[in-house]
Amino acid sequence: MEKWRGKVVWITGASAGIGEALAKAFWKKGANLVLSARRASELERVCRELGHAPGQSVLSLVIDVAETEQAAGWVSQVMGVYSQLDVLINNAGVSQRSYAIETSLDVDRRIMEVNYFGTVALTKAVLPYMLKAGSGDIVVISSISGKFGFYLRSAYAASKHALHGFFDRENPHPYFPECPDV
Ligand SMILES: NC(=O)c1ccc[n+]([C@@H]2O[C@H](COP(=O)([O-])OP(=O)(O)OC[C@H]3O[C@@H](n4cnc5c(N)ncnc54)[C@H](OP(=O)(O)O)[C@@H]3O)[C@@H](O)[C@H]2O)c1
Repeated sequence: MEKWRGKVVWITGASAGIGEALAKAFWKKGANLVLSARRASELERVCRELGHAPGQSVLSLVIDVAETEQAAGWVSQVMGVYSQLDVLINNAGVSQRSYAIETSLDVDRRIMEVNYFGTVALTKAVLPYMLKAGSGDIVVISSISGKFGFYLRSAYAASKHALHGFFDRENPHPYFPECPDV
């Protein structure tokens, strides 16, 4: 518990599924939380289910991660409350099951906006604070579909592959070992 006491962990997609489970796990570890998703009522439910813990607090921040132009404002809100951010977990995501030929381009775009651009925008918005603090971790929830294409999942797999292109880093790089570790 001591490791997480006083730390601030921001989890997107915290109103259900993996994000909700992560919220409950970090709460048990003693962390302060920022929980984000679109459905305020489900975030409220998760906050209620966390219960009260002395010395810990939770901020519920209703956001649609695809509204990327608002990312800097959300980060300001979080910093206004906590003045620090130790971990950002980019978990919010949407999936898809449909044949590519029957999937409208709007759906392909929306999945990229949520899964890829939403993650990249929030990451870029928190980076200046973490760099200034000299610490911080950024976590990205991918999928096996980020490594392999999959039946009925073309848009979803593309969005997760894009995340690997943005975030993956070989260290040392197999072809450019002189690349700086930044
Ligand atoms: N479940 C799996 O088997 C599996 C496997 C591999 C990877 N993943 C990845 O794990 C992550 C979580 O998946 P899950 O299975 O837990 O999904 P889930 O139960 O459907 O939960 C998705 C979460 O993301 C939030 N969300 C969706 N669109 C959002 C948006 N535009 N802005 C903000 N929040 C949004 C949802 O909340 P609201 O609806 O309230 O916004 C919800 O809290 C995703 O990135 C998914 O791709 C899941």
